[in-house]
Amino acid sequence: MKFAFSPNLEKSFEMLVIPFWEGPIAAAEYSSLELSAALKDFTGKNGESSLLYQGSQRVLLLGLGKKEKATVEALRRAYSSAVRCASSKKIKHISILFPTCKQSGEFLQGIIEGLLLTNYSFTYKHDSLKTNPIVLLEKITLVGVQKTDYVERLLTIVDGVHFVRDLVNSNADDKIEMFLKAAKNLHPKVKTTVLDKKKLEAGKFGLILAVNRSSSLDPHLVQVSYKGDPKSKEHIVLVGKGVTYDTGGLSLKPTDGMVSMKCDMAGSATVLGAVKTAAELGLKVNVTALAPLTENCIGSKSYKLGDVYRSYSGKTVEINNTDAEGRLVLADAIAYAVDKLDPSCIIDLATLTGACVVALGDDIAGLVCNDEILAESLLEASECTDELLCRFPTHNEYLDDFKSDIADLKNSSGREAGAIKAGLFLQEFAGQVPWAHIDIAGPAYVPKPKFYNTTKATGYGVRLLLEYLEANGGA
Ligand code: BES
Ligand code: MN
Ligand code: ZN
Repeated sequence: MKFAFSPNLEKSFEMLVIPFWEGPIAAAEYSSLELSAALKDFTGKNGESSLLYQGSQRVLLLGLGKKEKATVEALRRAYSSAVRCASSKKIKHISILFPTCKQSGEFLQGIIEGLLLTNYSFTYKHDSLKTNPIVLLEKITLVGVQKTDYVERLLTIVDGVHFVRDLVNSNADDKIEMFLKAAKNLHPKVKTTVLDKKKLEAGKFGLILAVNRSSSLDPHLVQVSYKGDPKSKEHIVLVGKGVTYDTGGLSLKPTDGMVSMKCDMAGSATVLGAVKTAAELGLKVNVTALAPLTENCIGSKSYKLGDVYRSYSGKTVEINNTDAEGRLVLADAIAYAVDKLDPSCIIDLATLTGACVVALGDDIAGLVCNDEILAESLLEASECTDELLCRFPTHNEYLDDFKSDIADLKNSSGREAGAIKAGLFLQEFAGQVPWAHIDIAGPAYVPKPKFYNTTKATGYGVRLLLEYLEANGGA
């Protein structure tokens, strides 16, 4: 994507986007254009758009909603309509006018973010290759705006979001290969190491190996590290659930529950995307992402209910539901981080529980955290990026439900408070390290894309993590 900054409106443009706040609308501001008739029917509601033709040129009226109620998120959403309209007309270059308002810096960033996030597509449709190619924007001219640095920053961050969306939207059977390829070429300043099956066996990653038993594809633990602040001992470790397909295993999911399960590696895609983007931005932070990758299949080698497996940490786990596999692969990765990476904090992201979706829906992720400062920082980051996050109470008594007769823990307990309990299970493997768990089962992969999320995979969490890393890394 190219950006141009133009002090005045150019004489000719492919499509000009003119924003209006909701309420009485005056055409006088744009006297060079004949808009008065069109404005009679235009209310300015958020996301409303009306395409006009003026000679050989297109003008898009864009509604922003009420000025008094304007927020950064409202502007992201409003301008997403402009990109969808341009794309439907196969237009590659749009010129954008900005609304008059006070918090213009913040709002301008929201607008650009909304435009870029929307400029994404993913399809396996046959005709998209030949007869009906998808057209995305290639150039945006910002009219009446001085060149600013944050355009570059936003381009880099949204690229990270698109990187995650691509991985999540792709076929389950392609994911491991895609991950390994992406991890190896993440960034020149990122060091990548991959533990393959042999190394996982030698390292006694008993839970990752248990989940992987039934799969014809080997498990991997991908580690990518970016040291942007070598003098500091701070080391933020991100861990992402990387179940490339979740059938439920012997506790097999019904069809309806399985159709979306290629999304079950969204956590690992997100942490990888975050490290890639942190490196590209040259942030002054030390950050590592760990992605335990495996399928959860069903077959004669499947790990079995009632059997006990020894985790990397040494704790033993009795399996009473093979569909509670995410916490198993995460437990080994978290314990490994504690043991080997000297983390100052651990943040895991995972499409972990349907219970979280029941509690919070598709728009909001759930937070379970053993540290007040870390929780506060993550909630602050979420406020900044409008990736909604809600903290659950860490009610340690619920851990009692994981008691087993023959092992240290069972891997699942009753249905109630499932999202909290899954978090408490993970907490057992984080030791004394400040740790946060973000359950992204709802927002990572949504049934109905909306606003600037143009596909089911949203890339939720990349912007939040970057905001957190920027705010909490070295000065
Ligand atoms: N991957 C699922 C959770 C999930 C559900 C993600 C819906 C996205 C959308 C996870 O592995 C799972 O199956 N969880 C079980 C846990 C239960 C067996 C304790 C669940 O939520 O039912
Ligand atoms: Mn599962
Ligand atoms: Zn799962």
